[in-house]
Amino acid sequence: MNAPKTPSPAFGLGLRPDHYQDLLTTPGCVDWLEALTDNYLLPGGKPLHFLDRLRIEYPMALHGVAMSLGGTDPLDATYLKSLRALVDRVEPMWVSDHLCWTGVDGVNLHDLLPLPYTEAVITHVADRIARVQDTIGQRLLIENVSSYLSYNIDEMPEWDFLTEIARRADCLLLLDVNNIYVSSVNHGFDPQTYLAAIPVERVRQIHLAGHANRGQYLIDTHDAPVPPAVWDLYRTAAKRFPGVATMIERDDNIPPLSTLLAELDIARAITTELVA
Ligand SMILES: [Fe+2]
Repeated sequence: MNAPKTPSPAFGLGLRPDHYQDLLTTPGCVDWLEALTDNYLLPGGKPLHFLDRLRIEYPMALHGVAMSLGGTDPLDATYLKSLRALVDRVEPMWVSDHLCWTGVDGVNLHDLLPLPYTEAVITHVADRIARVQDTIGQRLLIENVSSYLSYNIDEMPEWDFLTEIARRADCLLLLDVNNIYVSSVNHGFDPQTYLAAIPVERVRQIHLAGHANRGQYLIDTHDAPVPPAVWDLYRTAAKRFPGVATMIERDDNIPPLSTLLAELDIARAITTELVA
């Protein structure tokens, strides 16, 4: 198998099947791609066929939704074995999943659910991340999810919870700037405080996305262009985490590739502005 492209941590896009062909016919049109782990775990088939071809043209990251790092069910050994096989095949720049739980007693709720921010949960999650890292043979990036509720038993703010888990597990961070903004509105905290509390050396990747405004609260639908408020927050993030790989994560209402490339140019322009 050919070696993948040399990692180039600049501006990327989430890999979506709608863009397979365009990405292959215009190699190098974006600096890197993030493939959704869970779509490529079956051996064979069309998705893996395209991923094998695309990884030759683009540095690749793997991003999953199924680890349930905060769950109380045992880690899924079969899933992790398949992930390790995919990692060996794709040789990604890095592997990420979410700081959340997704089900209980074998029932998958198909949602990225927030955790209580407590010392006990930190210990529980850090131990599970360490075991995942042992299995995949590399450090994991964990991503902050958006939330619409908080727990009465919370002992600390989300940013301290995230930071302490990363320290204990010695893992890395994928900051979703849209998720931070959505949660800041829903819970009434200052998103600048969040960014200021995150240790710079742990951040390897940034997600940008759009959301829906439901009046009383925001939902991270990831189905719309990045709105001005998220670009504003990204300006702070780009200053605090200079050179960190940044990508647009569109999960629904997928526009043509050219539209997302133009949107990505806004991120490039913001970082250029900061350097100038
Ligand atoms: Fe994200």
